[in-house]
Amino acid sequence: MEEQMNRKNVFITGSSGGIGTAAIEKLVAQGYRVFAGVRNPEKIKRLSEKLAPAVIPVKIDVTDSASVASAVHDVNEVVKEEGLTGLINNAGYILQGPLELLSIEEIKEQFEVNVFGQIRAVQAFLPMIRKAEGRIINIGAVTGKTAMPYIGALSASKQVVEALTDALRIELKPWRIQVVLIEPAAMETSIFDKAKSASDAALQSVPQDKKALYEKVLSLVDASMANQVLNAPGIVADSIYHALSVEHPHTRYAVGRGARLAVTLGRLPDRLRDQILIRALGLHKYFASER
Ligand SMILES: NC(=O)c1ccc[n+]([C@@H]2O[C@H](COP(=O)([O-])OP(=O)(O)OC[C@H]3O[C@@H](n4cnc5c(N)ncnc54)[C@H](OP(=O)(O)O)[C@@H]3O)[C@@H](O)[C@H]2O)c1
Repeated sequence: MEEQMNRKNVFITGSSGGIGTAAIEKLVAQGYRVFAGVRNPEKIKRLSEKLAPAVIPVKIDVTDSASVASAVHDVNEVVKEEGLTGLINNAGYILQGPLELLSIEEIKEQFEVNVFGQIRAVQAFLPMIRKAEGRIINIGAVTGKTAMPYIGALSASKQVVEALTDALRIELKPWRIQVVLIEPAAMETSIFDKAKSASDAALQSVPQDKKALYEKVLSLVDASMANQVLNAPGIVADSIYHALSVEHPHTRYAVGRGARLAVTLGRLPDRLRDQILIRALGLHKYFASER
């Protein structure tokens, strides 16, 4: 009985992605039972079979309340009174493109996944988290500290995640539920390729005259993004494990090369930060020539 109550059950959304799979492997190695939230269980079939019974795939689309409720039901059937030691709100994607060219529907969808998806999961899983005095780990991003142009909608969504985490941390104190934010820098996952393909596809339906306004700038941004330093997603998994397991976790962890710089940039005066970002993106000569 004692052993059962001490079992560590965690639920991870976005388990089929680069950070999600790294987190599954890390947590299973540390003795956790992982409920791997995925839209399509086929995507983690090999991994879940390899790590069975420590990994249990659970279907979830964080944009769909019925799907979230069904995931809660599935997990509850297994954990019963043990409850949930951790909820890792990791599902997310990057909506790329200048704000002028994005449709309102695209921006809403960005918030639907990155922001409302986290709130839905928190609300639905809280009764189970309360039972185990578990923890909530929200995956933000360094763009939550320093908004980046041309991924403005993504940056806005991650800044909202910062605010939600800060509020939840206090609201859930009476139940000793810790809420921790992880702010990764750029990680080597397929998130950027997916963002670029989606952006290229969406641009097809933007009128040519509007698209032309941004053609040069976007090619410069693409070139500078190709040179960005990418970190191994395992370091985010290490931080997730740390945040779940240490007695007194910090409230937030900026993770990876480039993370501290982003935090520092966020504290600089606006115009100075703008200049640094413009230069880092290789836009200074272009902007100067357009004046
Ligand atoms: N990689 C980075 O550089 C980086 C940096 C900072 C923050 N982050 C954050 O880290 C998290 C994971 O990113 P990643 O790099 O691992 O990206 P990834 O490899 O593209 O994985 C994203 C995961 O989110 C899932 N997802 C997307 N929409 C969903 C929805 N509606 N419902 C449920 N799941 C959904 C995807 O599922 P499908 O496989 O079904 O599409 C996938 O499992 C994201 O929140 C991202 O913003 C990443």
